[in-house]
Amino acid sequence: MKRIVVIGSISMDLVVTSDKRPQAGETVIGDSFRTVPGGKGANQAVAASRLDGTVQMVGCVGSDPFGQHILQNFTQHGVDVTNVRVIRDEVTGTAHIVLAEADNSIVVVQSANKQVTFTEEELEKLLDDQSFVLLQLEIPIETVRQVTSYCQSKGIPVLLNPAPSQPLPPEVIEQVTYLTPNEHECRDLFDGLSVDEVLERYPNKLLVTEGARGVRFHDGQSVRHVPAIRANVVDTTGAGDTFNGALAVALVEHNDLEAAVRFAVVASGMSVEGFGAQGGMPTRQAVQQRLEHV
Ligand code: RIB
Repeated sequence: MKRIVVIGSISMDLVVTSDKRPQAGETVIGDSFRTVPGGKGANQAVAASRLDGTVQMVGCVGSDPFGQHILQNFTQHGVDVTNVRVIRDEVTGTAHIVLAEADNSIVVVQSANKQVTFTEEELEKLLDDQSFVLLQLEIPIETVRQVTSYCQSKGIPVLLNPAPSQPLPPEVIEQVTYLTPNEHECRDLFDGLSVDEVLERYPNKLLVTEGARGVRFHDGQSVRHVPAIRANVVDTTGAGDTFNGALAVALVEHNDLEAAVRFAVVASGMSVEGFGAQGGMPTRQAVQQRLEHV
């Protein structure tokens, strides 16, 4: 079975809960503050590992207590950290999250994540024909471009979650095997085209996540819709990451795309029932039980 290699961001999430989101220039009194491991790359790695994927994380943390805590968290979740670099005199990435009015808003400070770069030789050592690569956009775009180009030349599958939203070089879109924007990211990436038009253009490749409505993709014949499950929402942070980690697990196990999406939609729906990006990520057994009742 292929191993899932997540090349991406690793952060500490600094989470404030509040009844009200402050407007520009406004101060509000919050309810609580917690620090929990996060970062889209790290979240996807932990999600995949909880679902019994074989997962290697590739990224950077700073030489600070956040970095140490996060490395321990990976190890507790069974994620291989051999290729997580600790950058001396740098701080770990942070995400500053306000949970208010049933949604989150996030400011990411990249810090050590800016140093996720490779020489061609390093990539050759990291990746082989047993790799399935998972990428997001919280590391330098040049690295994303280099990895997708390298993987295409070697026939290594790549799942790119294009979040947070930013313009992508067209060749990156062509080179990846799977692309998983949410509706907003999809509109930003394919300006002027409707979601349906883009789905038709990229059958069995583009999967558009639509939050509480589920996921849509085109199977070559028609648009398929996999509905979301009903969930008791505590915190939606990390739901997209759980979807991507779970999708990678199901795809390396050779499930067909619709079955893989169904598995990932259930995992993602369950993840919103706990606090923090990783707090609600389900185990394999829990997803299988829930799938039986969908
Ligand atoms: O996708 C959720 C993640 O985005 C959070 O954990 C936070 O780190 C931000 O990067």
